[in-house]
Amino acid sequence: MKKSFKQDIIQFLKSENREINLQNILYSFANSSIQCVLLIRLRSYFLQNKYTLVLSKITGWILERFYSTSIFTTDIGAGLLIPHPLCVVINAKSIGENCTILQGCTIGLLSTSDPQKPIIGNEVYLGAGAKILGPIKVGDGSTVGANAVVLSDIPENAVAVGIPARTLSKK
Ligand SMILES: CC(C)(COP(=O)(O)OP(=O)(O)OC[C@H]1O[C@@H](n2cnc3c(N)ncnc32)[C@H](O)[C@@H]1OP(=O)(O)O)[C@@H](O)C(=O)NCCC(=O)NCCS
Repeated sequence: MKKSFKQDIIQFLKSENREINLQNILYSFANSSIQCVLLIRLRSYFLQNKYTLVLSKITGWILERFYSTSIFTTDIGAGLLIPHPLCVVINAKSIGENCTILQGCTIGLLSTSDPQKPIIGNEVYLGAGAKILGPIKVGDGSTVGANAVVLSDIPENAVAVGIPARTLSKK
C-alpha cells in the first residue's frame, strides 16, 4: 500500500507540473485528489482483512460522504489519479498502473444479473463522465472520451468515444 501511494503522489505532482520535493509532497495532502486516493488505498487494505471490515466500512462512508466516490475494487495498480473526486464509482475487477479517472466516471456491472466486472489496463485515461460497463477489457494506454459509454473491449493505445463507444484511432 505504501509503495502504491508513493507512486500516486508522484503521478499527482506530475499532473500538476510540480517538482517532487518534500514541500510539494506536503502540499499534495491539502488536495482532495490525494486525500481521496489515500482513502481508497486504506479502504482497499482494510477490505482485504476480515478483522478490519469495520474500518473498510468507515473509510467507504467517508469516501462517499466527503468525496462522492464509491469504491469496491481492491486490485488497483500504483499511480492512481482522480483529479476531481466527484461522482466516481469504481467496481472494476482490476485497474492497472498509472490510470487517470476523471469526475463522473462509472466502472461497473452492465446489469445486476451479470456479476462480471470490467478490467482496466495500465496507463488508461478515462475522460469525464465515461461509463465502462460489463465484462470488458480496456487495453493498456487507451483513452476513453468524455461521456463515452463503453460496452465492448478497447484495444491497446486506442481512443474511444461516443455511445456506444467506437474506437477512433490508435495513438
Ligand atoms: C477523446 C478525446 C481525448 C479525443 O481527442 P482527439 O483524439 O484529439 O479527437 P478529436 O478532437 O480529433 O476528435 C475526433 C472525433 O471524435 C469526436 N469526439 C471527440 N471527443 C468526443 C467525445 N468525448 N464524445 C463524442 N465524440 C467525440 C470528434 O467530434 C471527432 O469526430 P469527427 O471525426 O466525426 O469530426 C477528447 O475529445 C476527450 O473527450 N477528452 C476527455 C477530456 C475530459 O474529460 N476533460 C475533462 C477535464 S476536467
